[in-house]
Amino acid sequence: MTASALRNRIQAQLGIMMPETKEALVRSRLQRRLAALGVDSLEAYERYLATSPAALEELRELVSAITTNTTSFFREAPQIDYLVEQIVPSILATERYATVKVWSAGCSSGEEPYSIAMALADLQRRVPGWDYAILATDVSPRVLDAARTGVYLADQAAAIPRPLHRYLMTSRDPERPLVRVRPELRAKIAFHELNFMDPRYAVDDVFDVIYFRNVAIYFDPPTQDAVVTRLCRHLRPGGHLMIGHSESLVGRDVPVRHVAPSIYRKPARGRTRPIRVHRVTAEQERA
Ligand SMILES: C[S@@+](CC[C@H](N)C(=O)[O-])C[C@H]1O[C@@H](n2cnc3c(N)ncnc32)[C@H](O)[C@@H]1O
Repeated sequence: MTASALRNRIQAQLGIMMPETKEALVRSRLQRRLAALGVDSLEAYERYLATSPAALEELRELVSAITTNTTSFFREAPQIDYLVEQIVPSILATERYATVKVWSAGCSSGEEPYSIAMALADLQRRVPGWDYAILATDVSPRVLDAARTGVYLADQAAAIPRPLHRYLMTSRDPERPLVRVRPELRAKIAFHELNFMDPRYAVDDVFDVIYFRNVAIYFDPPTQDAVVTRLCRHLRPGGHLMIGHSESLVGRDVPVRHVAPSIYRKPARGRTRPIRVHRVTAEQERA
């Protein structure tokens, strides 16, 4: 017997494609939940979700168990370079005291928004006079808890460019080498729970850049188009959308155009703010 009702629930609630071929994966990811609730099958688990007064709490556990949260620091680094070398300088060329706003949509355990924060803080050090703010969202409460603490294994931090280690604190325990992102950087990021399947997003802002990487790959094409369209309501005209390197939106029914590998742009209204590279002077570099 298949657990089609549970697979349908996951697909409807999270957008994540759940064909019958993924049933073994669902089973293995939910093993601990089944044991914790004392139920012996996916069908019984689905009945629990459909009838128990505690189902709302269990749905949060289901989300945390079923989502794939693979991520790393400076993953697909050219997209962070593009932000620092192209997008921010072009904003600063027209708005002197700008606050650059970035949304890490599907942020997992925080490596993506912290990488962006480190790169922007480093640019700010060399080119002062502007600010940045980052919104980081995910549907999984478990990864968001980890992201908020900003604590990682020292091995994970090896992917962070050496000069940016100034934004990390290092534990003194040689048995368990850990790093923690410095509080001033953590304060730049607002972490919130958000499900891309919600018909509207409770976000009162428009962003210069949205990183929506390695999330859509789990959705079917109509869901991808609907989510990207909804996200783009929060992208300012001329703003950029970054997706994962194994994803593509070319030829799709979405309000952004391809401008560079895995980088898309929402058409600007009226005059386009040109992308101009702001050269860092030797004096700023030494500061
Ligand atoms: C593979 S991780 C990608 C993390 C990061 N963006 C990166 O590229 O390294 C995908 C993330 O998308 C989140 N996700 C999956 N479905 C979601 C949904 N419906 N709404 C919001 N986040 C979702 C997962 O919880 C997971 O943390």
